[in-house]
Amino acid sequence: MGTQVLLDLKNVNKVFGSNHVLKNIDLQIEAGKFITFLGPSGCGKTTLLRSIAGFYTVDEGEIWIDGKLVNDLPPYKRGTPMVFQEYALFPHMTVFDNVAYGLDIQKRPEAEIQDRVKAALAKVKLTGLEERYPHEMSGGQQQRVAMARAIVMDSPIILLDEPLSNLDAKLREEVRVELRNIQLDLGLTVIYVTHDQLEALSMSDQIVVFNKGVIDQHGTPHEIYYKPSTQYVADFIGTTNFVDAVTAHIEGDRVTLKYGSNSDTVIVTTNEQLTVGEQVLLSIRPESMRINQQPDPGDFITNGVVKSSMFLGEKERYFLAGDEGKEWIVDAYDIGQTSFQGIVKIRAAADKIHLIKVAK
Ligand SMILES: Nc1ncnc2c1ncn2[C@@H]1O[C@H](COP(=O)(O)OP(=O)(O)O)[C@@H](O)[C@H]1O
Ligand SMILES: [Mg+2]
Repeated sequence: MGTQVLLDLKNVNKVFGSNHVLKNIDLQIEAGKFITFLGPSGCGKTTLLRSIAGFYTVDEGEIWIDGKLVNDLPPYKRGTPMVFQEYALFPHMTVFDNVAYGLDIQKRPEAEIQDRVKAALAKVKLTGLEERYPHEMSGGQQQRVAMARAIVMDSPIILLDEPLSNLDAKLREEVRVELRNIQLDLGLTVIYVTHDQLEALSMSDQIVVFNKGVIDQHGTPHEIYYKPSTQYVADFIGTTNFVDAVTAHIEGDRVTLKYGSNSDTVIVTTNEQLTVGEQVLLSIRPESMRINQQPDPGDFITNGVVKSSMFLGEKERYFLAGDEGKEWIVDAYDIGQTSFQGIVKIRAAADKIHLIKVAK
């Protein structure tokens, strides 16, 4: 039993001229999961997706799909359709013909095409709209046609390259939910590319964070957000406060750290292998900090002066000046009750602090 690895990438490298775009990519993806490739523009997400689909050949490494080495197979033999930003629907073709296109190319028998297209359209809840043209449909419906076109091929993996970036914010949110529901209902394995961290956090079973052609972290949205493995990941996913610290005492997974100029200490729990006297970085999210609250022993504490604040609806975001030019960002909830000004105390509970090992 156990989980089935559907896609296995082993030491994948891709070079364009002198540009080493993908560096030693090792990645295993399980069947039935929604996986997001996340990273800023230019970090190699599309290149990896196209390499998986077979539009690029890799310079080094192996790509296994469903137990088969596919390095030398052309796209149509890999069965990994891609959906792009524009959906690439044919404007002059009906919904039915758009969905049937891949099967027509394969010259499947007419009766089979009829059955499979109808089934695929039913799965994305577009039954009855077979004769419409793309321009007669909403953005969300067009997205579903694009999904139907991928689903109809009975593909092991569906690859989506920033498919929602053309939609306005509200529609994007709706279609996100729809996409995720289709994936869950049908148990599809989807690889979804985005540079939008909120999109990644809200849709995915697993997120793979790319940093200049290298995978910095692969984990659940919670792991990526609360336990970022590198400074880059912590910084890219949301807002955080970084604190330089030095390990002072280590006892199992409990580490006492010194930080700041007053030899304050904080005790955090971590899996990292550390030695005494090692430089590390602490990441503390704005929502994990509190202003003017009594700290517990072992908490992180510091002082700050309120510089400005910003009302964000469910919270008020405070910008504070700390010691030695340090800036703090702290979110306060329960607003309307309190408003902070002047010199304040800032605290964070030890269990809300994440330790990042600094690369040497
Ligand atoms: N066909 C290509 N030929 C040459 N360079 C390319 C090609 N495709 C992508 N690149 C380069 O590879 C890098 C990664 O691009 P890409 O995979 O598109 O990033 P992302 O999708 O994360 O924005 C960029 O530096 C880009 O210029
Ligand atoms: Mg791209």
